[in-house]
Amino acid sequence: MSQKAWGGRFSEPTDAQVELFTESISFDSRLAAVDVEGSQAHARMLAHVGLITADECEQICTALTEILGEIRRGEMEYKSSLEDIHMHIESALIRRLGDVGRKLHTGRSRNDQVATDIRLYIRNTIDALDVQLKELQLAFVSRGERDIGVILPGYTHLQRAQPVNAVHYWLAYCEKFQRDRDRLADCRKRMNQCPLGAAALAGSTLPLDRQFTASALHFTSPAANSLDISSDRDYLAEFTSALALIAVHLSGWAEEWILWCTTEFGFLKLPDKYTTGSSIMPQKKNPDVLELIRGKSARVIAASQQLFVLMKGLPMAYNRDLQEDKLAAFTAYDTVNSCLLVAPSIVAHAVLNRERINARIEEGFLDATALMEYLIKQGVPMRTGHEIVGKLVAECEGRGCRLADLKLNELQQVAPAVKDDIYAVLGASKAANALVTYGSGGTECVKEQLAQWIVRLS
Ligand code: ARG
Repeated sequence: MSQKAWGGRFSEPTDAQVELFTESISFDSRLAAVDVEGSQAHARMLAHVGLITADECEQICTALTEILGEIRRGEMEYKSSLEDIHMHIESALIRRLGDVGRKLHTGRSRNDQVATDIRLYIRNTIDALDVQLKELQLAFVSRGERDIGVILPGYTHLQRAQPVNAVHYWLAYCEKFQRDRDRLADCRKRMNQCPLGAAALAGSTLPLDRQFTASALHFTSPAANSLDISSDRDYLAEFTSALALIAVHLSGWAEEWILWCTTEFGFLKLPDKYTTGSSIMPQKKNPDVLELIRGKSARVIAASQQLFVLMKGLPMAYNRDLQEDKLAAFTAYDTVNSCLLVAPSIVAHAVLNRERINARIEEGFLDATALMEYLIKQGVPMRTGHEIVGKLVAECEGRGCRLADLKLNELQQVAPAVKDDIYAVLGASKAANALVTYGSGGTECVKEQLAQWIVRLS
């Protein structure tokens, strides 16, 4: 005889190694609160349609709240023989209430139960992530006033390209994290359907009120197809993909700032409390936190891959493979959460090394494109202007000077269209401030964007 809740048709107990192999309590116990939330809604629905009495429903709901209290206080002993969090809670309920407890699982399978639990859990994490991402955006925006006077080189191919206001960089990250927030919100919308009542895979012969549980749990509606919803983990692939992109954004930011902290760049100083030292080299101050943010992105990207591979080739409907979904989703969430717990303070407290930035801002001909566009405004065809400025850059390189160091007659020898107002455009800050298109890195444009972000995030 088997002691299992499902043991009726079994004539021998489960092999001990199999119990260890199949358990998920070691990683799904964090679903306890949403499991209780789902079960209480289910019990209320059962009472609403008359499958249990109002009194039985009250007993079940009260006992479930008590059991959750025990779990939160660490008083529940987890056993692999009870497989997962769902069985632990149900068996604790039956221990307390006997036959009344035995009624809770009426019209329900662990398949629609676990599908509901993960949705509730992921929905909560999406809401928490949205708050964290907004905090990160606010950290970038909080630098706005402080850094608006700084011009930084913009790079392409990691070669100096055109100058931009420093705050243009900060707001670029706000845009990326906004898309991340939008993606999560979109995922939340699509996943917000209630599996309860799909039961094992086919629905139920009982008069379950699926609308009731869906509304009680704040889902938009009950899911329309029981086969689909009990097997659907699309939202976890979407969720972890959105998280992978957050991790990629964090990793790119971390890499940029790691570079900026090198002696070679010297743009940025991290506060001591966000850095670590070396066990042998006394002078070292290493950006380990940023490196780990970059490194941990691997776990998140891997988790999203894990889900795609897990789902690939699964027939309808529930297959036990799906139990592994939680490992990937939780790893992705925990990792991104840990990065988002440290990132905003680093963003807010790192200091731009203005002296160092200014000392080298005139290197690399950041104003060359502005000079070419000046010529275009004088009627010079773009390709001709490009050629002319290329020649002037080569000339300057040979002489070891800047474009702004060339005298008017020297400029006019190569570029006859140049007038003496050219000096209002040459030099990195002038070239930056000559940028006027919407969304550009010119200081006036950036100030406008900053004002909009402040409103948007308030
Ligand atoms: N622990 C299982 C999981 O996470 C719960 C569902 C089990 N269903 C089943 N038919 N064995 O997927």
